[in-house]
Amino acid sequence: MSAVSGAPVRIGLLGCGTVGQGVVRMLAGTAGATIERASGQRLEVGPVLVRDAARPRPGVDPALLTTDPERVLGDPSVAVVVEVMGGIDPPMSWLLRALRSGKSVVTANKQLISRHGSELLRAAQESGTELRFEASACAAIPVIKVLRESLLAAEIEAVTGIVNGTTNFILTEMRRSGLSYADALARAQELGYAEADPTEDVGGADAAAKMAILASIAFHSRVLLGDVPYEGIDRLQAEDVDMAHDLGFVVKLLGLARLVEGAVSVRVHPTLVPAGHRLAAIGGPDNAVLLESSTVREIMLVGPGAGGTETASAIVADVLSILGTHRGSFLHNALADAGRPILPPDEVQSAFYMRLVVADRPGVLALVASVLGEEGVSIRTVVQRGQGVEARLVMVLHPTPGVRVRAATVRLAALEEVREDPVVIPVLGSGEGG
Ligand SMILES: NC(=O)c1ccc[n+]([C@@H]2O[C@H](COP(=O)([O-])OP(=O)(O)OC[C@H]3O[C@@H](n4cnc5c(N)ncnc54)[C@H](OP(=O)(O)O)[C@@H]3O)[C@@H](O)[C@H]2O)c1
Repeated sequence: MSAVSGAPVRIGLLGCGTVGQGVVRMLAGTAGATIERASGQRLEVGPVLVRDAARPRPGVDPALLTTDPERVLGDPSVAVVVEVMGGIDPPMSWLLRALRSGKSVVTANKQLISRHGSELLRAAQESGTELRFEASACAAIPVIKVLRESLLAAEIEAVTGIVNGTTNFILTEMRRSGLSYADALARAQELGYAEADPTEDVGGADAAAKMAILASIAFHSRVLLGDVPYEGIDRLQAEDVDMAHDLGFVVKLLGLARLVEGAVSVRVHPTLVPAGHRLAAIGGPDNAVLLESSTVREIMLVGPGAGGTETASAIVADVLSILGTHRGSFLHNALADAGRPILPPDEVQSAFYMRLVVADRPGVLALVASVLGEEGVSIRTVVQRGQGVEARLVMVLHPTPGVRVRAATVRLAALEEVREDPVVIPVLGSGEGG
């Protein structure tokens, strides 16, 4: 850290959009004064990289705006680089350069950290600088700090999260207002909870990146985005949400990270959550993360998982944490690799909800049951609703390894009596995750 006591700590910003402007506003407001009183150090915004420097940003001195990354990366007075631009490259090469030249880095970039986090941590460790990324998972909720510091010795065994606010809002609206998936998505876009291109959110990639980061920290292991199989909510229909309700469940897009006999299992998919479960109560755009360990039992953190000021709060906290970290302390960029293997997703056991649209004629249920039986899958509950020529067959299956349910699903989909691709959703609890 190049700052000397008494001199302001200069922060260079890479990006000044929703989050970057939140950081500038926060430091210019009462938070800046509070930080100075509490830490004895004044944080000062230095050069700010954007694509279009001619466009004014509220509260940002136009003289600080630049389109030249050199003005941030090559400025020896910049002690901390805050990356809030997004994308993989150029941020990756710029952040490596910043770390190697003695600048600490704070980033909100989940896609970058979930792919290249270990490489960046190694660069920080080698150069004696710091890398922080609290805002990359669940924005304002201080889950990484809690896992990394408060629960370091708690031996976390499971992290279960609603880590994407857009999909949680859509699922809440589908249940509360009976909207179709498409109408609930349109409403989320109207209210600013979903981007014009919502693919990353509704397809599950955003949640998978966050779960890779949380699992790495919780289990002291290297979990990359590519290790996390994910599925989004875009194939869900209002009738699945209603049927689940009738069976006593709420549908949520969950991230599930588990230690199963020493191996790591992380995945993201729509999940049936029992109505009485504490995650079932998290509605609207909120995020929640449930941490489980035999030491502390259950700890749940809930709050906003997005937003300019909310995310800025985590970024400013990371800058402060860097200022308060002593050289060589145990929080100093540990690579955190306990060498755990990654469990193949198909070996994970779970109960499942299965909805089939079938020909409404005698013998079909028996045929379905025999296919399931041959694949080693047994039925816990079944509800049949006839609608003339077609019937809905909704089942909850007993806990089974995913590979068997997948095999049964392929065989069922090929039957002449089955009229649409089966919808299969894991159920939380009851054998899930081993
Ligand atoms: N928004 C949230 O609620 C939220 C929550 C958690 C994490 N994050 C993460 O925070 C990061 C920023 O998000 P945001 O919502 O603030 O994005 P944003 O509003 O789109 O802002 C991006 C900023 O980066 C600048 N930028 C982008 N590419 C650039 C390039 N190649 N060269 C120079 N400047 C470039 C843009 O410049 P111009 O202004 O000139 O276009 C803009 O100022 C992302 O990684 C995002 O995933 C966001």
